[in-house]
Amino acid sequence: MANFFRRRIAAKLSRTLQQHEDVFTPALSAVPVFKKQKTADFKLSINALRASGVLPSSGDVQLQAEDLAAQLKQDSVVENISADRGMINFTVNRRLFVEKMLEPLENQDDTKFGLNSELFNNLKRGTTLVEYSSPNIAKKFHAGHLRSTIIGNFIANLKQTLGNNVIRMNYLGDWGMQFGLLGAGFAQFGSQEKLKQNPLQHLFEVYVQVNKEAEHSEEVKQNARDFFRQLEQHDSHAVSLWQQFRDITVSEYQHIYKRLGVHFDIYSGESEHQGQAQEVVQQLRSGGLLKTSEKGTGVVDLSPDGDGSSVCTVLRSDGTTLYITRDLAAAVDRKQKYHFDEMIYVTDKSQATHFQQLFQILLAMGHPWAESCQHVPFGLVRGMKTRTGEVVFLEDVLDEARTRMLHNMSQSKTTKELDDPEATAEKVGISALIIQDFKGPLYSDYNFDWDRMLQAQGDTGVFLQYTHARLCSLIRRNIEMDAATFDPSLLLEQSSVTVLQHLLRYDEVLYQSAQDLQPKHLVNFLLKLCHLIATAHRELPVKGSPQEVAQARLRLFSRSCSVLANGMRILGITPVDKM
Ligand code: ARG
Repeated sequence: MANFFRRRIAAKLSRTLQQHEDVFTPALSAVPVFKKQKTADFKLSINALRASGVLPSSGDVQLQAEDLAAQLKQDSVVENISADRGMINFTVNRRLFVEKMLEPLENQDDTKFGLNSELFNNLKRGTTLVEYSSPNIAKKFHAGHLRSTIIGNFIANLKQTLGNNVIRMNYLGDWGMQFGLLGAGFAQFGSQEKLKQNPLQHLFEVYVQVNKEAEHSEEVKQNARDFFRQLEQHDSHAVSLWQQFRDITVSEYQHIYKRLGVHFDIYSGESEHQGQAQEVVQQLRSGGLLKTSEKGTGVVDLSPDGDGSSVCTVLRSDGTTLYITRDLAAAVDRKQKYHFDEMIYVTDKSQATHFQQLFQILLAMGHPWAESCQHVPFGLVRGMKTRTGEVVFLEDVLDEARTRMLHNMSQSKTTKELDDPEATAEKVGISALIIQDFKGPLYSDYNFDWDRMLQAQGDTGVFLQYTHARLCSLIRRNIEMDAATFDPSLLLEQSSVTVLQHLLRYDEVLYQSAQDLQPKHLVNFLLKLCHLIATAHRELPVKGSPQEVAQARLRLFSRSCSVLANGMRILGITPVDKM
């Protein structure tokens, strides 16, 4: 597809400029489809060639473009070459273009569209560990955890699609003083029965209640400290209660993640790295990196001049470890266990300094692989509420998305034909949530808005699902049509060529997303695709057209449908066939 044409153009440039083909491919890109109709398919940036030293950096860029364009010869594949504003535009033969874009894929596997692109050769390969979601036991599952869950899932899906071996990890907040409180609180207000009936709710209630009590009761505080100490000393009663809280929480979460279309290979957590965290402290000490502060805490000096102007605390004065100490131990442990080639942490931006310090200390400890660790920060969500109030549990958001979507769908007549309208409403509601979240740069804060995100028109997840369902229905209604015979010259209308020109960019869009780990490129690509499909659908009817024309059009729509579905799946959306 894109490869074929990119190669042809690169070969042409290579012959003219006497340089290897590969130097041209990075400067070549598919021309994006804007509102105005466009004719060219690829463009070559003269500035990019100057920057990479292929062309001299002196002189006028436009003259250089014109000069080079004049030297390049048209042929039966590349039919038009022109210079425009420092770019060279290439238009390929229309019939061949349509044919190549719609040619059957290996093993008829349409999920592979665009994936054997040479662009992906210079991406990082091997094993990618992605850590995401990572909620805290007994605490609120807030909007930040929701964002981490869907963003991490997207990154994992993307890496996997591009051929990496991906390990999906959830790193639970399952250790720390909060468990002292929870243990003490459970003895006072806990009920095994309620814990079994509604575990997350009950743990949260106990936790809130005990926190309130602890504010003015020395005794409760003391009980909490005692319980936590017992935990740290592996007292069997304390450990088994803690284990029960953890197991029950994990199994509840697994259930809810499934609704969201998310899964994990590993449920790890802070608790796992207790002993190792102390070992890390020893290593820091023997490596001369650990200093004792005036307050008696253990700190690592991270200031560039070593003058103590910027330090990171890794040990409390009572000898217990902290969040960062456990993260240091966890990172070392993961490297040993999983031999990852890169590790990606997904949390809100308030933890940016934490991860900076983490990577810096790992490097100082002699772990050069810390260079391949990355934090993907994201912004705040304002106003995530349900009808009943503040969101405390992930389930609340999913229920609300389903209810609202079901309500909206009940106004359309096709909903009545659905086997399981609730399940469809849930999938569509979740896609609305994801698209709202992924539309802008991850780093930006945004306002949560149920009404806006659930609109059927406009750039929403509902619109993506609607377009997908419509295409599926078109394909279903014409299932008996023989798609094997296909004449590309019957698809030369502008609206069809435009859809295909847009599909030409798919590999570039994935590449871009893989580089900066931002879903917005893919989201905008898919939304645009849906708009172009709507136009093509209007202008190129299948029903009532002569057999061969109908066949060709169906081929266009079914390829569009696959690319749309593939892209949606990478974003973490389950495409629905009917809605
Ligand atoms: N549990 C933490 C929180 O809710 C997030 C954990 C992020 N991952 C990590 N390795 N520190 O804030």
